[in-house]
Amino acid sequence: MKKSDKPINSSRRKFLKGMSSGIVGAYAITPNLKIENLPKEISDSIEGKIKLTIKVNGDKISKSVKPNTTLAEFIREDLKLTGTKIVCNHGECGSCTVLMNGEAVYSCHMLALDADGSEIITVEGLLKDDELHSVQQSFIDKDGLQCGFCTPGQIMSAYALLKNNSKPTDEEIKNGMSGNLCRCGAYPKIFDSVKDAVSKKIWLLEE
Ligand code: FES
Ligand code: FES
Repeated sequence: MKKSDKPINSSRRKFLKGMSSGIVGAYAITPNLKIENLPKEISDSIEGKIKLTIKVNGDKISKSVKPNTTLAEFIREDLKLTGTKIVCNHGECGSCTVLMNGEAVYSCHMLALDADGSEIITVEGLLKDDELHSVQQSFIDKDGLQCGFCTPGQIMSAYALLKNNSKPTDEEIKNGMSGNLCRCGAYPKIFDSVKDAVSKKIWLLEE
């Protein structure tokens, strides 16, 4: 028997009939009814959104997101934290790097819902009392940027590297930063910036 030939039991038929007449009725009464004017639970369920609870830069946030929203889109569009950049959107360039539970991740390459319950730090979260983090300051002092588009991701990778290894060798710096591409080719100065950060005492966000 084809799916469409199956008998619909009477309570299901009644339910579907009720639903469709309810929606048609609502539109008949208010023809300009817009999804954004509906109560949040109803509009979320129509759009298929799912609730997510996450800590971002120390703030606990609960929001509903579409299942196909990436973590990078969530950070930029829902939270308006636009320091995190989307460049390739394919997990290749590292511009969207953020920390998730202390580890550097490509936020364009994972779903926001997969970060449910985790702790995220973006480049904005490195600030302490409005003062730049020493890694951020090193990128300024050593001119570690040209257009600056890759810079937030570079800084987050540098922070993740130094957090786990406060005295990396030159080779370890190159390896640690190898997941971040710079289309301006500012690599020598990016390397100098990380070396400069190594020479300073970096503060850890957990301190
Ligand atoms: S934008 Fe995410 S890796 Fe390139
Ligand atoms: S500074 Fe322009 S992409 Fe790196």
